[in-house]
Amino acid sequence: MSKIQKIKGFSDLFSPESTVHTLMENLARQVFGTYGCQEVRVPILEKTELFARSIGEETDVVQKEMYTFADRKGRSLTMRPEATAGVLRAFIESGQCGAEGTTKLFACGPMFRYERPQKGRLRQFHQLDVEVLGTDAPQADAEVVLMLWTFLTKLGLKNLGLELNSLGCPECRPVFHQRLRDFLATIDHTQLCEDCKRRAQTNPLRVLDCKVPACKSLVENAPSIAESLCPGCDEHFAQVRDILDSAKLPYRLNDRLVRGLDYYQRTTFEVVSGEIGAQTAVAGGGRYDGLIKQLGGPDLPGIGFACGMERLALLYGQAQIPAPDFYLAVLDSRALNTALLLAQRMRERGFSGEVSFEARSIKAQMRQANKLGVKTCLILGQDEMEKGQIVVKDMATGVQKNIGQDDLEQALGFRKP
Ligand code: HAM
Repeated sequence: MSKIQKIKGFSDLFSPESTVHTLMENLARQVFGTYGCQEVRVPILEKTELFARSIGEETDVVQKEMYTFADRKGRSLTMRPEATAGVLRAFIESGQCGAEGTTKLFACGPMFRYERPQKGRLRQFHQLDVEVLGTDAPQADAEVVLMLWTFLTKLGLKNLGLELNSLGCPECRPVFHQRLRDFLATIDHTQLCEDCKRRAQTNPLRVLDCKVPACKSLVENAPSIAESLCPGCDEHFAQVRDILDSAKLPYRLNDRLVRGLDYYQRTTFEVVSGEIGAQTAVAGGGRYDGLIKQLGGPDLPGIGFACGMERLALLYGQAQIPAPDFYLAVLDSRALNTALLLAQRMRERGFSGEVSFEARSIKAQMRQANKLGVKTCLILGQDEMEKGQIVVKDMATGVQKNIGQDDLEQALGFRKP
């Protein structure tokens, strides 16, 4: 029979990779928790309309990257390509959007985008996502950026760059759109990539951050959105920058940072790294006032971000997996059951370890103990069984002694809760 292989762009995570993911998730929960974020778990599958309406019909994500299919009753469903839309749907549907004040939500899990797989770009990837809902204060923007930066710093990541921009609001964006369209009318469209030929008509902002070198050089002299911001957006952005300056958080203003999803307004940001290949963005986010209303909720503002866990993991490197506390070698098959119950007793008391299921040669079992990296090996043979004892071997020194089985925890000097 032929082997069944995983789907292209999907991956299996074994330890240490899975350990790194768990570690990142736990740290995210803890750090974001200190800012008041509550975890929400939302479905992976949603109605297609949710994403089309929020991310935008004209985006690459909606146009060509979604895993969309009809269910058995012919309803169009989509595997979430990002978390924001689902979190907002849940926020609205649960009625939490009616509560006063600010709601801070944390979500994580797998996302799905049908992109061309490469290093740091998968079709199933994982995000750590934060959404801060119900405030348009510039302080919230600054707090969100600081929250992300604190998390990345605590993760021990270095050499990251923070890029910042403001995309304006429905008042000033149309003015910029027109200026941009006027500019795009002056360039040679035949030189644009196929995507940008389409974007120039449907979504001109996106031409600005196309990564294709030919497009990049064609829009080199495009107008800057910074010059088109209305006084309200200008002031809002100035305040955000002011706080980040006071917090001594270095950033680079990038007026070409438009992000790939259409719901953004005002502050947008990305964290980039030059150390993980072509896919440089490890996290990105921004403000999306108007989106909650667009999804049928009240007119509440919001801002958030998501980190790509696979990209963070590339920077994080290998996790140090702690060795188990013991390995219990069994030399006589008649001792197997006693060994198993002794190991069980130890685990109930909080120790970690493995016990042999077979009475193999002592050499093979020592090899196994070394492979696990344990400091202490316990050995149980018929002789020890009869005396109610067990051998405790210090793997570093090779010194071994017999102790009573009842004295195991104490004799080993374990200090576990
Ligand atoms: P995004 O920029 O599309 O934003 O994705 C956020 C992060 O997810 C990226 O910076 C990247 O690290 C990771 N990512 C995206 N696509 C892939 C992929 N194919 N393979 C591996 N990693 C990937 C959002 O998704 C927004 N929902 C963020 C947000 C939350 N904005 C406001 N709130």
